[in-house]
Amino acid sequence: MKIRAAVLEEFGQPLVVQDVDLNEPKAGEALVRLAACGVCHTDLYTASGADPTGYAPCVLGHEGAGVVEKVGEGGPGIVAPGDHVVTLFAPECGECVHCLSPRTNRCVAIRDQQGLGFLPDGTARLERNGEPLRHFMGTSTFAEYAVIPEIALATVDPEAPLAGCAPFACGLSTGIGAALYMAGVEPGSTCVVFGCGLVGLGCVIGCRLAGAERIVAIDLSEDRLAEARHHGATDTRAAADDTVDWIRGETGGFGADYTFEATGNVAVMRQAVEAAREAWGLATMCGVAGKGETLDVVPRLLITGRRVAGTSFGGVKGRSQVPQLVDLWLAGDIDVDRLVTAKVSLDGVNDAFHAMERQEGIRTVIEFA
Ligand SMILES: NC(=O)c1ccc[n+]([C@@H]2O[C@H](COP(=O)([O-])OP(=O)(O)OC[C@H]3O[C@@H](n4cnc5c(N)ncnc54)[C@H](O)[C@@H]3O)[C@@H](O)[C@H]2O)c1
Ligand SMILES: [Zn+2]
Ligand SMILES: [Zn+2]
Repeated sequence: MKIRAAVLEEFGQPLVVQDVDLNEPKAGEALVRLAACGVCHTDLYTASGADPTGYAPCVLGHEGAGVVEKVGEGGPGIVAPGDHVVTLFAPECGECVHCLSPRTNRCVAIRDQQGLGFLPDGTARLERNGEPLRHFMGTSTFAEYAVIPEIALATVDPEAPLAGCAPFACGLSTGIGAALYMAGVEPGSTCVVFGCGLVGLGCVIGCRLAGAERIVAIDLSEDRLAEARHHGATDTRAAADDTVDWIRGETGGFGADYTFEATGNVAVMRQAVEAAREAWGLATMCGVAGKGETLDVVPRLLITGRRVAGTSFGGVKGRSQVPQLVDLWLAGDIDVDRLVTAKVSLDGVNDAFHAMERQEGIRTVIEFA
């Protein structure tokens, strides 16, 4: 079939929206009609050429939500036509060594081919002028339709509006999961969140859902600090050179039980480690640092009991836990509407990138007609 898709033709250049071909799903794959797709930093990072693992041309997009139209014959039947689904760049096969462990979401089932831009059988369903066109993060959801492995689709409550489901496919689940599943924030804790974009706001929400007593949000932008208060921060402070000293002062000299970094800046990551409590503080990194950058930590901080962790997709096991997070939204515990600050058509994808560069709004969601 012919579909409209936003193609990364060349690094550093605007995406080009055009007609491409999409072939039928094979066994273990499903054809999804996208209703919405969030525009995430990782798309921009790859489009810019900064990502060392990036490749072009390909169809970008990985924060998708839509409806299953067709399932390839002979597959596991995890999804069925009509299912409302959230796309998963981090799949959950349920059977590999990592899926069987409650400690991680790092499913290994299809990662090699996904990283190369292909579906699990090593071929692409996307095509242009008879030539294969590579997929991105196993999803390629800047498109009207996508063929996606069944293990990379989370079936969610059809009552949930799909534009609001899209942020659960990446940024929002990453932040919430970092607090709930990776760090395992305990009720009554003191938490500090560095960075209040979608990921950091997700951390704030996760800390609140976990019953944290004190949630301190730090950002450069007053607007974003106000957003953090709306979603559950009890204290906010403008980022400054003395942030770590201030946090220690607020916590009897010890530091916070849990800190979260959601900026991608390695100097802030270091602050998150230094602001974690002596004896048991856990610092969780969510941000993606630039190529070649390293995190500088004085080992004495670790000897005296601080721990450093990190997570991809917040440690969320996609097929089992994304539907639970969507249910929390439907129950009124997460204000998703407030996080989706702009809606555009597929042709507006480059404008969404520019808005992100200017830090306008929290999340732009592409809606498909
Ligand atoms: N681990 C994952 O699976 C995963 C998933 C999605 C995104 N990410 C990464 O998470 C990070 C955050 O993503 P986002 O979409 O929320 O980004 P964003 O740019 O919307 O938010 C970052 C926030 O950090 C703030 N900030 C910048 N410098 C700061 C400082 N010195 N102190 C405190 N705050 C500061 C900015 O003002 C901004 O509000 C990015 O690095 C992104 O690539 C990781
Ligand atoms: Zn697995
Ligand atoms: Zn993302």
